[in-house]
Amino acid sequence: MTKFLLITDLDNTLVGDRQALERLNQQLMHVRQQQGLLLVYSTGRSLDSYKQLRTKEPILVPDALITAVGTEIYYGGSTSPDPAWSEKLNHGWQREDVLSITAHFQDLVLQPDAEQRPYKVSFFLSPVLAEDLLPRLEVALHIRGLDVKLVYSGGQDLDILPLQGDKGQAMQFVRHRFDISADYTVACGDSGNDQALFSVGQERGIIVGNAHPELLQWHQDNPVQHHYLARAHYAGGILEGLRYFNFLP
Ligand code: GLC
Ligand code: MG
Repeated sequence: MTKFLLITDLDNTLVGDRQALERLNQQLMHVRQQQGLLLVYSTGRSLDSYKQLRTKEPILVPDALITAVGTEIYYGGSTSPDPAWSEKLNHGWQREDVLSITAHFQDLVLQPDAEQRPYKVSFFLSPVLAEDLLPRLEVALHIRGLDVKLVYSGGQDLDILPLQGDKGQAMQFVRHRFDISADYTVACGDSGNDQALFSVGQERGIIVGNAHPELLQWHQDNPVQHHYLARAHYAGGILEGLRYFNFLP
C-alpha cells in the first residue's frame, strides 16, 4: 500500500469515543511505520485550545496542524503559523471593518477572546436566529465590499473568514506542500465547518455516523462516489471509512 494523507477534524470526529480512538491510533501507528502516513488535524480551535484538548485526549502527534477553521497552519511542533498561508489570507481581509458591520447585529454574541484570531472572527448564534440573520449579514458585508466567507457550524457557531481561507483550501495547501495527490488524501469531519473539506476538490471524504444535520443534509444534496457516510460514530467512523477506501486492510 502507498503512503496517504489523513486529514481529520478533532471534536466529534476523531475525538468523542475513547475506545474507538485507541483502536484507530493502533492502526495508524502501524500504517505510519509500514507504508507511511501523513497525519493532519484540522480544527476550529485556536492553538491554545488544541493544546488543552491534547492534555485530555490520547491523540497522536500530527505532521501538521490546521487551526482556527483553516486560517492557521503549523508544521511539526512549531508554534508560529506558516507565513506563506497567512500572507495569502491577508489579501482583501479587513478585520476591523468586519467587526464594525457585525456590531449592528445585536443577535450576534462574540465568542471569547481566545477564539478570535487574526483571520477569524467568531460568534455564537442560535439556529432560529441564523436563518433570518445570515442572509442579511451577507448583504451588509457585501455592500461594504467585504468579500468574506460565513461558516455556520454545530447549530451554534458562526465564523467569518477570508474568502481564501477555510478548511478545504488549507487542506489543499498542505497536501501540495506534502506533494500528495487528491486520490491519496482522505478528509474526515462531522459538522458545517468541515463541509469545505468535502466541497473543495476530489479528495476522498469520510463523514462520521454522528455527523450534524447541517453536514448530513449537504451530503444528501451533493452525493458523489468519493464521499463515504460511515455508520459508526467518531473514530469508529474514520476506521470504517479508511477500510472502505482501502487505505486500511
Ligand atoms: C471551535 C472554535 C470556535 C468555532 C467553532 C466552529 O469550537 O473554538 O471558535 O466557532 O469551532 O468552527
Ligand atoms: Mg467537529
